[in-house]
Amino acid sequence: MDAGLEHVVAAETVTSDVDGDAGRLVLRGHDLDQLAGHTTFEAVTHLLWSGFFDDLPAARDMPAALGAARTQVFAQLPAFPAHLTAVEALRVGLSHIGDGDDLATALRLLAAGPVFTAAAVRRAQGYEPIAPDPTLSHAADFLRMLTGAAPAPSSAAALDAYLITIADHGLNASTFAARVVASTQAGLASAAVAGLSALKGPLHGGAPGPVLDMIDAIGAPANAEAWIDAALARGDRLMGFGHRVYRVRDPRADALKAAIVKLPKTTGRLAFAEAIESAALNKLAARYPTRTLETNVEFYTALLLEALRIPREAFTCVFACGRLAGWIAHAREQLATGRLVRPKSVYVGPEVRVAA
Ligand code: ACO
Repeated sequence: MDAGLEHVVAAETVTSDVDGDAGRLVLRGHDLDQLAGHTTFEAVTHLLWSGFFDDLPAARDMPAALGAARTQVFAQLPAFPAHLTAVEALRVGLSHIGDGDDLATALRLLAAGPVFTAAAVRRAQGYEPIAPDPTLSHAADFLRMLTGAAPAPSSAAALDAYLITIADHGLNASTFAARVVASTQAGLASAAVAGLSALKGPLHGGAPGPVLDMIDAIGAPANAEAWIDAALARGDRLMGFGHRVYRVRDPRADALKAAIVKLPKTTGRLAFAEAIESAALNKLAARYPTRTLETNVEFYTALLLEALRIPREAFTCVFACGRLAGWIAHAREQLATGRLVRPKSVYVGPEVRVAA
């Protein structure tokens, strides 16, 4: 038995390849660093979805198709119960998209990410949701719907780079969950809800908010070592470090760092975070000398999304906004090439009782 399934191959995919030893991420034949910062999220979505929908528009028409879908889902904005967190509200929102396996459903799900996240955040802040502008890019419109102001081009570019960086990543926990649900032919919205439900945990996409909490709690570079020692002594995990697959640095961390340095006025916070990163890596190496624990994507996600003034309680939603493209590609691929996923378990319960 392999409790974490790390040695189990459960799917073939054309979407992405994660080379954990080389620290390399390839999206459909393109190295991540050829895409992040060089193209748009809409173009990468087109790349991931190619071949999975007969009626997929041409790449140049994807921004308009996605813009129209944002307008469509905004017209059916659900009332999110006030006690829900942003990610729980997004989960409710995705459930409002009816199940189907077609392109229109896929576009509505992808559009629902930023539209529902921005609406949930604004309502929690006591403001009215802002209607989408279908002429903007997905990233720029997301920031506009969150803040009410047109974003600086550098901010839109940074969010675009982020959404590309996290759009797909092999058979991670949330993508596996989405594929299992898709394998039952339950439909794309059900697969996306399953993906989001897996993503929200702190061992997966729920880490970046706690990364900022850690940076805030450390307070100053001089406190880093003592704070980390105490955390490790308590048995806590340092958020933003370690990965199931990468045995070297997560290439997405550097893609995001490259996006952060292009933003104005982030250098002070970045230098502080780098001091924490370096202390954490030293402490983890000393504590686990035979296991390489490196910086993962979530550490720089936290810094990037903070620099874009996105509230930390919405970080996991923003992750989902990018990963929805991957979940949908995998769900369609599972339908096209996979089978019902149904592994076995080993019974370790009591023996059958013999009637007296
Ligand atoms: N801080 C402290 N100790 C850690 C950390 C960490 N971040 N990561 C792993 N360890 C420890 C484990 O507790 C384990 O110790 P043990 O043998 O004494 O029990 C040892 O290192 C080996 O752990 P792994 O088997 O490598 O961990 P696993 O593959 O099960 O977990 C995971 C990977 C969940 C990402 C883990 O590293 C972790 O919890 N990191 C912190 C949370 C985080 O950053 N999550 C985001 C991941 S990226 C993503 O999903 C998008």
